[in-house]
Amino acid sequence: MDKLLEVKNLKTYFYSEEKVSKAVDGVSFHLKPQETLGIVGESGCGKSVSSLSILKLVPEPPGKIVEGEVFFEGRDLLKLPQKKLREVRGKDIAMIFQEPMTSLNPVFTIEYQIAEVLLAHTSMSKKEAKEKVVELLDQVKIPSPRERAKDYPHQLSGGMRQRVVIAMSLACSPKVLIADEPTTALDVTIQAQILDLFLDLKEKFKMSVIMITHDLGVIAEMADRVAIMYAGKIVEEASVKELFKSPQHPYTIGLLKCIPKLGGEKKELTTISGSVPDPSEKPAGCSFHPRCPKVQPNCKTDEPKMIEVKSGQWTACHYPGE
Ligand SMILES: Nc1ncnc2c1ncn2[C@@H]1O[C@H](COP(=O)(O)OP(=O)(O)OP(=O)(O)O)[C@@H](O)[C@H]1O
Ligand SMILES: [Mg+2]
Repeated sequence: MDKLLEVKNLKTYFYSEEKVSKAVDGVSFHLKPQETLGIVGESGCGKSVSSLSILKLVPEPPGKIVEGEVFFEGRDLLKLPQKKLREVRGKDIAMIFQEPMTSLNPVFTIEYQIAEVLLAHTSMSKKEAKEKVVELLDQVKIPSPRERAKDYPHQLSGGMRQRVVIAMSLACSPKVLIADEPTTALDVTIQAQILDLFLDLKEKFKMSVIMITHDLGVIAEMADRVAIMYAGKIVEEASVKELFKSPQHPYTIGLLKCIPKLGGEKKELTTISGSVPDPSEKPAGCSFHPRCPKVQPNCKTDEPKMIEVKSGQWTACHYPGE
């Protein structure tokens, strides 16, 4: 089977009295067994809402999944009844949320919280679950796991808490792990340790991973393939190698230029001028056209469709390439 998870034409909108925010506006991508797909884009482009939509975790109202399908093992998750969906969540598809503290409850011990996941999804006894918690904490390289299991979240450092969140997500050996900015809140040395841990665990658990980040450096290290998001849409999709070697969409090219380089002359750090449009007031034609250095008249009126520029490399641009 080539596609473990397939998202097709997903649209998630937020409604308020005066406007409709098209946060996710026709997103399609797939995940192959045991690969890591990176989803990259600036703040507000719809990365978190896309991933929350996969498991129907978008608050409704104000949000609503208005269109699309999410196939996992032959079933459309968006059509599953809540009870069946709860079985998939955590067990087959686990998620690490962008705010680690929201996944941890301050009033319960680490042991209690991870054991709760195990008891909900497996037939383990309480005693077995407690032993498994120690094993999981050990797997995410928390020192003295038996003692740490008795701690409350506030007793741990940020890096340790993130390891606990990862341990919790791995509790039921999920097939797919969705990690939403798992290292953003951490300092760089801890970030590197957590990324190493991810690579290690991915091998051990034979998982497929969706790694959401705004950091192309993280993608270079972690991902096999990348989807670049802009204003609620995917504008480029390619293998990591191709994306870095010959980016096709002007937005991707801009993002790559923003990565600071060591050595050479000291130049001012490049930025992409302007900002991501408000999802309720997207420009006509290509959403990127007001910021695009290559803009042509038809970009302001005709929305570009995804086209395959090279085998496995797709982009939605009327004038792709450098
Ligand atoms: N609960 C909500 N109600 C209304 N609008 C929302 C809600 N959640 C998200 N949005 C809007 O949807 C858009 C996409 O948000 P999303 O959180 O997916 O961005 P993101 O790409 O994850 O950004 P970041 O990198 O900052 O995490 C934003 O414009 C945001 O304001
Ligand atoms: Mg986000």
